[in-house]
Amino acid sequence: MARVVSDNAEPRALPRHIAITMDGNGRWAAARGLARSAGHKAGLEPVRLCVRECSRLGIGALTLFAFSSENWSRPAEEVASLMGLFLETIDREVNDLDRQGVRLRIIGNRQALSVRLQAQIAAAEQRTAGNSGLNLQVAVSYGGRWDIVQAARALAAECASGALAVAAIDEARFGAALELGALPDPDLLIRTGAERRISNFLLWNLAYAELYFSERLWPDFDAAELACALEFFAGRERRFGHTGAQRGAEAPAGRGAAALKAAP
Ligand code: FPP
Repeated sequence: MARVVSDNAEPRALPRHIAITMDGNGRWAAARGLARSAGHKAGLEPVRLCVRECSRLGIGALTLFAFSSENWSRPAEEVASLMGLFLETIDREVNDLDRQGVRLRIIGNRQALSVRLQAQIAAAEQRTAGNSGLNLQVAVSYGGRWDIVQAARALAAECASGALAVAAIDEARFGAALELGALPDPDLLIRTGAERRISNFLLWNLAYAELYFSERLWPDFDAAELACALEFFAGRERRFGHTGAQRGAEAPAGRGAAALKAAP
């Protein structure tokens, strides 16, 4: 169930899990006559802000789309600068994340990453694994289709070895084999950069997410815009395939899923 907070008199439902497609870094840089890499660098500040705000509000999970399976086809120079930025950032920020009680995980095809980056990711994950605050997932070399295929392969291997019966594969079992594993599905997807697409992000897990499309370019995303996204979420009626009457007039956004599981 989503937590409910009130900063004034009015209680507001909060998502348990927010996913963000951080789009618009290149345009932000171009508008200033800068290299695209400067836009990616500027995109780090809103990342820090979202981590702080989600932690402060008690939102359980935040998943950020940093580099897609398809981004490998960008110019080699941009790919190299992004990989350098990931390396530097993980190294520089891990202490601070750890202090905030954040549990960091990288999701995606990590075998496509350099051995050095893989090692650094493993160390940062290990360092923060025992934390009980915000679950922060950064998707790197990630694609929703890749994720579904890797889950299917893992389950098929279990079936082939006799460890798993085909009939035992249901939605819960399949979902657990995906990169987000046991985390609840994102309730809210925010995409910046004025584009209205899913772009191969968390295809399975976004099945019932509310979609908030922001006109802001990612480096300009700030606390006020995050508050707008949360306000939008709080105003949604989430029905999960049920009727509005079944859902009940009172349940705010984010509360519906658990309540409706018990519905006939
Ligand atoms: C999409 O904007 C953004 C990216 C491909 C990179 C996002 C990465 C960061 C913000 C760095 C985060 C780092 C960590 C470690 C979390 P775009 O380049 O497609 O922008 P455009 O549509 O304007 O060209």
